[in-house]
Amino acid sequence: MQTTQWNQMLQAHHTEHAGVSIRGASKSYGAFRALDDVSLDVAQGEFVSILGPSGSGKTTFLGILGGFVQPTSGSIWIGNRDITFEPPHKRDIGIVFQNYALFPHMSVGENITFPLRARREPRSEWPAKLKNALEMVELTGYETRRIHELSGGQRQRVALARAIIFEPRLILMDEPLSALDKQLRESMQIELKRLHQRLGATIIYVTHDQREALTMSDRVAIMNKGRVVQIDTPERLHDYPVNAFVAGFIGEATLLSVTRVDSNTVSLGGTHLRTAKPLPMQALLHLAVHCEKLTIADGTQDPSSNLLTGTVSETLYQGESIRIFLKLEAGGELSFRVPSNHAGRSQLRRAGDAITVALHPEDTIVVPDA
Ligand SMILES: Nc1ncnc2c1ncn2[C@@H]1O[C@H](COP(=O)(O)OP(=O)(O)O)[C@@H](O)[C@H]1O
Ligand SMILES: [Mg+2]
Repeated sequence: MQTTQWNQMLQAHHTEHAGVSIRGASKSYGAFRALDDVSLDVAQGEFVSILGPSGSGKTTFLGILGGFVQPTSGSIWIGNRDITFEPPHKRDIGIVFQNYALFPHMSVGENITFPLRARREPRSEWPAKLKNALEMVELTGYETRRIHELSGGQRQRVALARAIIFEPRLILMDEPLSALDKQLRESMQIELKRLHQRLGATIIYVTHDQREALTMSDRVAIMNKGRVVQIDTPERLHDYPVNAFVAGFIGEATLLSVTRVDSNTVSLGGTHLRTAKPLPMQALLHLAVHCEKLTIADGTQDPSSNLLTGTVSETLYQGESIRIFLKLEAGGELSFRVPSNHAGRSQLRRAGDAITVALHPEDTIVVPDA
């Protein structure tokens, strides 16, 4: 199959290069530091997401990689080549932006082959490359269509095909799915992940959507105020957040102030909770409770579980689950979910009901202040 050959060629091409290194990159606008001493090593073929709230410096970071933003200090390397001062078109990077940036007056085929034209690649090679790129994004037969005749998801796939047709070693994507509706976004996430596996290219993917980052990435770099706070696998970010910012950003967690009692116990307003994980040394500590880790204590929970009692303050029906808010006796409010199936409904409690919830010591996550 031709696609396989092309993939082999791509992979051979990619093995000539190592990963990407960002070393101490900063960007200032006047006195304001949009990016503050960021270092990151991305391995060849890795899918790394940059996740953070709006304004945390994600686009600035990607701009430095792509060559659109000149860093104030620091350097960017691809393999053993310093590309810090190379112009964008010499970097061999495929780029996909949030708003597609397709040429509306050109056909699908003309859009996709644009990078080949810009790079003055021999015209005789275009048809085979176009065919393969179209196959990869499942748009075979669409080459003569106009952009305005396509759906949002199809346009996004054209943008993708345009980014991969010249066999870049590195693909940068800045919130490429954020303009799509939820269903399409979720199916595109899965398609993109599969495409990454087929291509073997390195992908750096910017998003503010934590679920998207967790779904797609080998590792996720969490950014806040121009800095990378933590870079880890999705599982590690979830279970071992380095501070309250990460714990609050990943998953659906409530943060409650706690104080240290001993090496594996904290106090939440007098209620002692044991953790199976090492307690941080800092003075200001927070308990991070992910809503999926709480269950109603009904005698079947692990006997070592921490128990928290309180009163139901509100229940919210959210389709696949019902979210229950609980005012704790120990102070503060938590929420957890029960599935909205028959079994879940039997656990449903009403506002005013007194209940006890269980939290396993393995799920008892204590983090220092951000
Ligand atoms: N050209 C610019 N001039 C001045 N400030 C900028 C410029 N570009 C970005 N910024 C500022 O840098 C910060 C980070 O921006 P950005 O990288 O776009 O964040 P994100 O993509 O995470 O939303 C923001 O506070 C933004 O206002
Ligand atoms: Mg941005």
